Amino acid sequence: MKTMLNIALPKGRLGEKVYAMFEAAGFECPSIKENNRKLIFENEEVGVRYFWVKPSDVSIYVERGAADIGVAGKDILLEYEPDIYELLDLDLGKCRMAVAAMANFHDDPQRTLKVATKFVNITQNHYASKGRDIDIIRLNGSIEIAPILGLSDVIVDIVETGTTLKENNLNVIETVVPISARLIANKASFRFKNQQIEELTKKIRAQLEAKND
Ligand code: PRP
Repeated sequence: MKTMLNIALPKGRLGEKVYAMFEAAGFECPSIKENNRKLIFENEEVGVRYFWVKPSDVSIYVERGAADIGVAGKDILLEYEPDIYELLDLDLGKCRMAVAAMANFHDDPQRTLKVATKFVNITQNHYASKGRDIDIIRLNGSIEIAPILGLSDVIVDIVETGTTLKENNLNVIETVVPISARLIANKASFRFKNQQIEELTKKIRAQLEAKND
């Protein structure tokens, strides 16, 4: 029997695009397209087992070896710094991490800046690199409300189309880092399942190059 390659996919639209790339690379698993609520699918012939996980959990499965490889946003990798290998930028799920504020915001560098965010580590690193004192307010969602209600001066959050900011009268004042989806691997799996992982990586890289030609 073939060694199974365990792959954690981010549940949702991004994961579906990623699966299409893996399928085109020869790692197909037709049962994944059945319309049901199962979360694990395998194709023993090809030697793959896919599972759908919450996007922000992919790196946990991969770091701990429950998945050999997976696809995670660069935001999650920068925020949690999991001990994994980052193999490829998949050029999908592109957005940016940005600082945003209300249009009438004027920064006073002498004052401690109040920053609301879900991404505490990224935010701390960003302002530490500028030597700026901040007071972090950790929120779990609807970050855009914080400056409107005076809970914070600015927010650090993901901006994709910019619609959420616009509809809440906020402007980007600074880009922190560009974000995209990355193919990641468990460190031990990368050694012990190297042939399968290298083959997949090579084929995906070829798809990306063909797309950019
Ligand atoms: C993100 C982010 C913004 C929104 C930005 O939330 O927190 O609210 O997307 O996208 P836009 O620039 O295209 O409007 P997401 O939908 O990822 O979910 P979340 O509520 O879990 O943060």
